[in-house]
Amino acid sequence: MIAEHADGRRLQGVPGRAAVVAVGMRALHRAGVQTWGTKSFEFWTLLVAALGIVRPRALLELGSGRSTQYLAEYALKEKVPFVSVEQSRAWRRRVQHGLHAGLVGGSFVHRVPVAADGWYDVERLDRVVTFECDGVYVDGPVGAREGVGRAARGGARAAAWLAAKAPAPRLLVVDDVDRPENLELFDTLTTPSRLERFFLSYRPGPHQENVVAIAYPADAAARIRQVCEAAGIPLTADRPGAC
Ligand SMILES: C[S@@+](CC[C@H](N)C(=O)[O-])C[C@H]1O[C@@H](n2cnc3c(N)ncnc32)[C@H](O)[C@@H]1O
Repeated sequence: MIAEHADGRRLQGVPGRAAVVAVGMRALHRAGVQTWGTKSFEFWTLLVAALGIVRPRALLELGSGRSTQYLAEYALKEKVPFVSVEQSRAWRRRVQHGLHAGLVGGSFVHRVPVAADGWYDVERLDRVVTFECDGVYVDGPVGAREGVGRAARGGARAAAWLAAKAPAPRLLVVDDVDRPENLELFDTLTTPSRLERFFLSYRPGPHQENVVAIAYPADAAARIRQVCEAAGIPLTADRPGAC
């Protein structure tokens, strides 16, 4: 749909290109259609190494996807509790089918809708996350930043709920810390636990550069550093945006 004059002025009463794209994105999101690339091979290598070295005893994920394969596989083999929380019904179904197709049994993926303020409905969250976790992977909800609704990832309610569920985290992953609200959440969750913090850039699409943050205790950091050096994973302690 053309929503602008040739000189760029908006046509009266006709939605702009951004609004049209947002409607399309919301429709694709509701249908469970993927519209972005996944994280890098280096990141998945790092995640598997970190799981194997830190050995968390209970796992929580916010925002399901490819990562759920790795976390569910670990949980299944290590017999530790794991819940993956997903806001979209269609996407939850798709990820759960993917797990079964990949020969990972169990039903790890739970749908929890977002509340009016954009973060998850906490009453529903508490119903599915009934244990304290020491491994946390934050990659949801998606919404305002992605053009698929009102959901927002950072904020006081997110930090308070996560801090209560993971009072002593040993493995923490927060995606998209190139966005200030996510970096702030990562800082808030890692500050009391004295975990070491690292960052890895990756390209989910040709025009995007994302940064994922990971934190773990110092003894694990020494061993994970060796893996990164051997596998050529450019993990850095430099915060995004820092020179
Ligand atoms: C952020 S991505 C990746 C998640 C996963 N933790 C990983 O690392 O592989 C997954 C999120 O994208 C959302 N999603 C699914 N389809 C989408 C679409 N078409 N557009 C935007 N987001 C979508 C899902 O609701 C889900 O919470």
